[in-house]
Amino acid sequence: MCKKLISIAGFDEAVVFERAQLEQVAQHLSNNSHLLAGMLDKERYILSQLRMYNTKDCSYWVLRSLCEPTNILSSCTAVRVPVIFSSSKGCQSSTATIITDIATPVEYRRQGFATALLKNVQETLDKLDNPPMFSVIYTSGIHTDFVEKLGWKPQPGTRMRISIGRTEIPRPAQADRAQYYPADGLQYATSRDCNMSKQRLSAKRGGPTQVQILPTHKFALCKIDLSDMRASEIHGSKPAAAGAVYTSRAFLTKAWMWWTHDFEARQLHVCRFASMRVEGMEAHYAKILEAAMAEASACGLWEVVIWDPTAQFIAGARMVVAALNTDKLNGPEIILEPRYDKIPCLRWRGGEDVAAEWIERQMHSCF
Ligand SMILES: CC(C)(COP(=O)(O)OP(=O)(O)OC[C@H]1O[C@@H](n2cnc3c(N)ncnc32)[C@H](O)[C@@H]1OP(=O)(O)O)[C@@H](O)C(=O)NCCC(=O)NCCS
Repeated sequence: MCKKLISIAGFDEAVVFERAQLEQVAQHLSNNSHLLAGMLDKERYILSQLRMYNTKDCSYWVLRSLCEPTNILSSCTAVRVPVIFSSSKGCQSSTATIITDIATPVEYRRQGFATALLKNVQETLDKLDNPPMFSVIYTSGIHTDFVEKLGWKPQPGTRMRISIGRTEIPRPAQADRAQYYPADGLQYATSRDCNMSKQRLSAKRGGPTQVQILPTHKFALCKIDLSDMRASEIHGSKPAAAGAVYTSRAFLTKAWMWWTHDFEARQLHVCRFASMRVEGMEAHYAKILEAAMAEASACGLWEVVIWDPTAQFIAGARMVVAALNTDKLNGPEIILEPRYDKIPCLRWRGGEDVAAEWIERQMHSCF
């Protein structure tokens, strides 16, 4: 097990860097709870997050005082996610690590603890027998400079917000419409999505290597579970619909999406959208977006948010908004803008300068 004694300039005692054990994980989550628990009470938040403990995908790292193992000076969570990439041999598999929940308790801030923690996490990941291909930290504001100095390069992104305001958008009624599915009906879409992503990278010829974090079923359920738990806290019940799928009658091609409800920000987050064909899917996207907007409206949410929408997806959004905006007053509106928060910052294994393109950076891989 990795455990290191470290000295920090200006701090009298030596400190320990190690992989957290259960009690330290609970303390780490407790330190983060005021930032991340939102409407959940602290205990429920910790319990919900502890479900990830003991899975091989998740590790927690702490910098702690030498004498008191639960006196945590800085800590973070590292989630290992599956990755695929294009190569001359076709599509290959690897992993990446999402580093999240980085926190230093207020009384220990600005003494270099988070810096020391992240440098040691970097080193530990790089030295693993099977190191991740890259790691990602999602940051906002001044923290972007902080992680950039440590080697995680910001990858600016865009987002589309479709504001619904207080307009009531009914569930689509026409026969040729998208169908909703619950969280436990998601498996079809996620496994199809992963297979299709692999096929597309296999077919790629030439150009820079493309890398994609796989939108797996496991992580979809993980995100939906937490959002449902928050929803139950606020509304007493969890939303029934976790996504929508549209199958065109003529060609039987499909487009689908899955989402999470953020009742605190009053947003429906489209974590993943995908379609079976690469071209000509605008009308399909319009159908599933209409379903998403109706879901947001039914749940009292004000916006549907999508990260890094493609040109076809934006065209689909324009179609559905134009169709709903018949009176031009107070109707839905599309806002396309750069993203200033949750900016993914990426560091390749060993801090190498790699000429590769990270594609499909939707919200599914943000923890
Ligand atoms: C972000 C956070 C983890 C930094 O922890 P820390 O132990 O204070 O960080 P360090 O002491 O190693 O400082 C890291 C750098 O950030 C800068 N920094 C830290 N807090 C800052 C602040 N409030 N304003 C401006 N700069 C700040 C430091 O000056 C340092 O830069 P330097 O290396 O040029 O001196 C801590 O402030 C925190 O827990 N914040 C709340 C949780 C959060 O926002 N996490 C997201 C992190 S990506």
